[in-house]
This record gives sequence, structure tokens and C-alpha cells, in this order.
Amino acid sequence: MLEVKNMTVFFENALALNNLSLEIKAGEFVGIFGSNSAGKTTLMNNISGLLLHRKFREKAKGGERITIDGKLYFDGEDISPTIPQDRVKRGIVLCRERHPVFRDNTVHENLLLGGYLRSKKEVNESLDFVYDLFPALTRLRDRKSGLMSGGEQEMLAIGTALMAKPKLLLMDEPLLGLSPLMMQEVVQAVKKLSKTGLTILLTEQYARPIMPLIDRGYVIENGTMIVSGTGDELMDNPEVKAAYFGM
Ligand SMILES: Nc1ncnc2c1ncn2[C@@H]1O[C@H](COP(=O)(O)OP(=O)(O)OP(=O)(O)O)[C@@H](O)[C@H]1O
Ligand SMILES: [Mg+2]
Repeated sequence: MLEVKNMTVFFENALALNNLSLEIKAGEFVGIFGSNSAGKTTLMNNISGLLLHRKFREKAKGGERITIDGKLYFDGEDISPTIPQDRVKRGIVLCRERHPVFRDNTVHENLLLGGYLRSKKEVNESLDFVYDLFPALTRLRDRKSGLMSGGEQEMLAIGTALMAKPKLLLMDEPLLGLSPLMMQEVVQAVKKLSKTGLTILLTEQYARPIMPLIDRGYVIENGTMIVSGTGDELMDNPEVKAAYFGM
């Protein structure tokens, strides 16, 4: 479904992604694990097209600091030059890190915004799906999003991404800053989503609750791929054990 080929990204002279290649097949749940500044967000922003958008914006202002090299193929087609909105139309949807929501809008309004490219009927179907996945959001339907807890906002951020009906859902550190209880709730939702057959690429620094759920995973450090394998292979890998499970 998605192939990332020899992806290299520089912010000025700083290397953020170093010749990274990876692949996600339809229906797979793939994890990307790495510590702070490993390059997780840069990878996600690159796949969603946000990085390209930023590069164009900088160019329009007369300065260009971002260098992007390498190719992205989605369903066999080269989407490297495609703008973010067209990637969303193709089904690549990113749920950004640190649960971004429109704080002055209600839960329901945020969800509707997530479905803005789709028909009313499709939007209603997705609304049912999201409220079913996160029953807490049903109770909070008319609450201003900015007044909700971090965990509730993360549910909303994932729900909003789902409103665009992704074929490939990208989740950037969905567990970041959540309490153990909220973390469990989000993990259960991700597990449920994966079981529906949705293709998921998820990054995390906190690998422990995610590792057992994934089909395959990659570990990155300083923008470079260190290890890859199935969930079981990663959990058995001594380096991974030491870094992520303190064993
Ligand atoms: N807009 C930017 N301008 C300059 N450098 C950047 C920019 N965005 C990221 N970087 C640098 O690129 C590297 C990778 O950052 P990235 O945000 O992708 O890491 P991350 O794995 O998401 O980290 P975290 O776990 O903290 O979210 C870091 O060294 C970071 O400082
Ligand atoms: Mg990040």
C-alpha cells in the first residue's frame, strides 16, 4: 500500500531522516519506535505531505531550509509531489502528535470538520463509527474541546482523523502525555481499529503497550533505521529489550 524509499530530510544542515526505507501492506499494523528527536514526526509529516507543504511555504517567503529526498509510493503511484489535501483524498490521513483539536469548537463540530471533504451520508456513517469507538465522546458531544482532558482530546483527534475515512491511518505518538488509564483506552481503540482491517502506521516512544499489537515494526535512531521485524522479533531483540523494556 505504502512504500517509503530512501527518504532523506534535512532541516538546514541537520539530518532528520537518513535514507529511510519502509513498507506497509494493506491491512497491516506497523509501528515505528524511537526516542525524542529520532525523526518520528518528520517521517509522519513527510508521508502526509505536511513537510512538502512547509517547504513550499518557506520557498514562497523567500527562504528554503527543508530538503526532501527520496520517493513515496501509494498503491504503486508516486505521490512524492502530491499536496496534503490530495493525499487525504487518496486516503492517507494523519492524526498529529499532542492531540491537536480546534479548542473553541465542540467535539461534534471538530468531528464534522474532519469530514469536510465527504458527502453528508458518508459523514453520518463515520460519526456513528467514531461515537461507537469512543463512547466517552458521545457524552462530551457539545463540550468545547479546549476544556477537555488530554486523553479526551486524543480520542477526539483520532476520531477527527477517522472522519476523513482513511485507507492508511497515520498516528503520531497517540499515547504522549496520557495517564495510564487513558493510555489503556486509546490502546484498546487502536486495537479495535486494527481489527477492522484498517491499515495503520503508528509512531511511539512508549513502545510497551503497542509492541504486542503490531504486525511489524521499525526502530529508528537519529533518523536512521536500526532494527526491523515482526512484533515478536522486536520484543525478542536484545537491543530493543534494553532500550524499551529495561531488560
Ligand atoms: N521544523 C524544523 N526545523 C528544524 N529542525 C527540525 C524541525 N523539525 C524537526 N527538526 C529536527 O529534526 C529531528 C527529528 O525531529 P522529529 O520531530 O521528527 O523527532 P520525533 O521522533 O518526532 O521526536 P519527539 O519524540 O520529541 O516528538 C530533531 O533533531 C529535530 O530537532
Ligand atoms: Mg514527534
